[in-house]
Amino acid sequence: MKVIGRRAEMAALSDAWRRRGLALGFVPTMGALHEGHAALIRRARRQNKRVAVSIFVNPAQFGPKEDLSRYPRPFAADRRLCERLGVDALYHPSAREVYPKGVRTTVEVQGLSDLLCGAVRPGHFKGVATVVLKLFVTVRPSRAYFGEKDFQQLQIVRRMVRDLDLPVEIVGCPTVRDGDGLALSSRNAYLSPFERAVAPKLHQALRLGARLARKAGTPLRLLREVRRELLMIPGATIDYVSVVDPASLEDARRLKGRLRLLTAVRVGKTRLIDNIALSC
Ligand code: PAJ
Repeated sequence: MKVIGRRAEMAALSDAWRRRGLALGFVPTMGALHEGHAALIRRARRQNKRVAVSIFVNPAQFGPKEDLSRYPRPFAADRRLCERLGVDALYHPSAREVYPKGVRTTVEVQGLSDLLCGAVRPGHFKGVATVVLKLFVTVRPSRAYFGEKDFQQLQIVRRMVRDLDLPVEIVGCPTVRDGDGLALSSRNAYLSPFERAVAPKLHQALRLGARLARKAGTPLRLLREVRRELLMIPGATIDYVSVVDPASLEDARRLKGRLRLLTAVRVGKTRLIDNIALSC
């Protein structure tokens, strides 16, 4: 496995593979890799001749009061995992490499970026879309893999690729969970033992919502039940819980067809997100 810090070197390696006709699968991450990331990498491994993973804790997607400085960075362990999973290139640039002094250009997927998590984290998805586009330009993958765990992010990336005619196929992958249902996340490491014990209730509340999808009658009634369940999590505050159209992320007016139920909950100081498909 090649570990690469320089943009030009990553681009040159990808160019060489492309000239040989080797499909390249790409998994962008912020590191602190877990089984959720591993599932994306394995899928990329199965579907492509070459696999690149990026590890970059992107300052542009953190708000001023967010956890940029304390975000976990266990690079040696991440590197070993990538090696074991058969990754060909691990791209690990510095912030200066990605954002040289004086950059002024950003990308924003309008509408989709201001809702849900975007309403609570202004500028977050602009930071995500910008870095993902920059990574795509450097890595030039045939396919890129994103988790449904971050459902809004996945839809924003899909929309950006469509709107900007980017020559990459976006592959969405199901959320990987712990045995008790908690969606794996690098941020789970912040949870105290007590918070970790109650955190699976998030997924339980969403599953209740999925069960009620055909019975609740209206989105409002369904959300009332899910909210009631979420409020039973000790010490939790709800950022949002919404039933939306999976492509536009706009609130569903009726429980009809394929919808998505999404929530963000603060458990103590840690913000957890999760979502589930509804078929009504
Ligand atoms: P990060 O949180 O490290 O996640 C990298 C990828 O792993 C994302 O596509 C995310 O949805 C996926 N992922 C995380 N937890 C998962 C789980 N439990 N099951 C399945 N997939 C999971 O998301 C980011 O980094 C950044 O915003 C990034 C896209 C790299 C841009 O900076």
